[in-house]
Amino acid sequence: MEIWLDTTDTKTIQLGHKLGILSGVTTNPSLISNSEQTLEDALSEILKVQSGPVTAQVTAPSHAEIIEQTETLREFSERIIVKIPVTQEGLQAMASLSHLQFTIMATAIFSTSQALFACRAGAKYLAPYFSRMDTPLDTLESILFILERYGFDTKMVVASLHDLGEVQDCLELGVDGVTLKKDLF
Ligand code: G3P
Repeated sequence: MEIWLDTTDTKTIQLGHKLGILSGVTTNPSLISNSEQTLEDALSEILKVQSGPVTAQVTAPSHAEIIEQTETLREFSERIIVKIPVTQEGLQAMASLSHLQFTIMATAIFSTSQALFACRAGAKYLAPYFSRMDTPLDTLESILFILERYGFDTKMVVASLHDLGEVQDCLELGVDGVTLKKDLF
């Protein structure tokens, strides 16, 4: 199972990297805002202290603006994976961007149908929010079934985990990866 860190804290990220267990780093707009850095500064520091991919989330509402933001973010580094929420506008943007070979992490996933739509639109990663789902284990199991049964080339990295029991549940289900907040890591 891949271990990602859901933080902008470079000391924690550096530790994960040194231990040789880190697959990548996820960020989101609230983590960036809490870091009191600009998005560019936060991403540069994270890219410097580890060698894996780093996600940056778009904030634009329309598909045209999401595409523009994605292009700007990807110019920043080849290692940036752009996170796009699974809304109608987000899916439309994903469909265009995945045809242009952009690597997309579909985020804010709470349901099996959102996961299926994101896979169909070409996302390479799915980020379901464990603690925000009514029946997380059932939903994750259905998503895993879809990924395996229909052979999508898409990985599931579970976010919004709040305790080690939830991480253990993910491990036992066989998800591709988890992204851990600083304290949980
Ligand atoms: O990256 C998104 C994830 O961190 C959301 O977590 O705990 O706010 O549901 P939470």
